[in-house]
Amino acid sequence: MTRSILILGGTADARLLAGKLEKESGYRILLSMAGRTRDPVKQPVPIRIGGFGGAGGLADFIKENAFDLLVDATHPYAARISANAVAAAQLAKVPLVALERAAWQRQVGDRWQAVANVEVAVSAVGSGGKNVFLALGRQELLPFERAPHHRYLIRSVDPVEPPLNVPDARYITARGPFELSDEIAMLRDNRIDIIVSKNSGGAAAYGKIEAARQLGIDVVMIERPPHPCAATVPDIEAALTSIQHQLSLLEDRGE
Ligand SMILES: NC(=O)c1ccc[n+]([C@@H]2O[C@H](COP(=O)([O-])OP(=O)(O)OC[C@H]3O[C@@H](n4cnc5c(N)ncnc54)[C@H](OP(=O)(O)O)[C@@H]3O)[C@@H](O)[C@H]2O)c1
Repeated sequence: MTRSILILGGTADARLLAGKLEKESGYRILLSMAGRTRDPVKQPVPIRIGGFGGAGGLADFIKENAFDLLVDATHPYAARISANAVAAAQLAKVPLVALERAAWQRQVGDRWQAVANVEVAVSAVGSGGKNVFLALGRQELLPFERAPHHRYLIRSVDPVEPPLNVPDARYITARGPFELSDEIAMLRDNRIDIIVSKNSGGAAAYGKIEAARQLGIDVVMIERPPHPCAATVPDIEAALTSIQHQLSLLEDRGE
């Protein structure tokens, strides 16, 4: 029997997991994307794009398309879709495998200040005019309009439109992975005093954190929201193992 798996994506991990699953298992895979990125990366499996209309809509989609299993491989800060995944898996009565990439851990030499959210991050940057590097998505940038006294360098995948309403902001559009040597040069050339970052985990975005450690630059680290799934797996290999385990349980039950 060919099993069907719906993967909630929007991350490199989701893309890699989907490719591996399709290649190694022959399962029917559909990768779901929110549709936020203007020029999305090519995916190795069929995709669908756009919201489902909440947990109920996602559950209906799972049932109507006879998926056997749901994988949440969304970004650690995409809290709403992850909560919807937990609820939808229960409603549709399918197992859920939630992949939450391991967070970066503070190393000796890191000058991190952990904050709960972007609003607190704005205050944590401080009152004097600083050169601030913001490595955040478009939606998270708006609160920085409350601090127009800083000079901002902003890097995002898509252009920030409209631009921030602050007098001094420059923009870079780029997609990772970012090399350590390039990150060191970028921070130096722009005389960056402080970085505001999410704790995304993984290697692709870690260069700026390692560069900040080497250069003695402060990092305001926005903490992850709690994951709504009680048990998550930390990487692609663990996700593959968990998927096989959940599917074998279905087999045992004759489902
Ligand atoms: N937040 C980040 O820092 C970040 C970074 C990199 C990539 N991403 C990716 O970008 C997407 C949006 O992030 P977000 O923080 O805006 O998410 P979010 O706040 O958790 O989700 C908002 C809504 O977007 C829709 N949605 C999100 N992911 C979806 C998916 N994979 N397939 C279909 N619909 C999806 C859902 O709409 P409905 O309720 O209508 O179903 C969800 O309720 C996510 O897929 C995430 O993996 C996020």
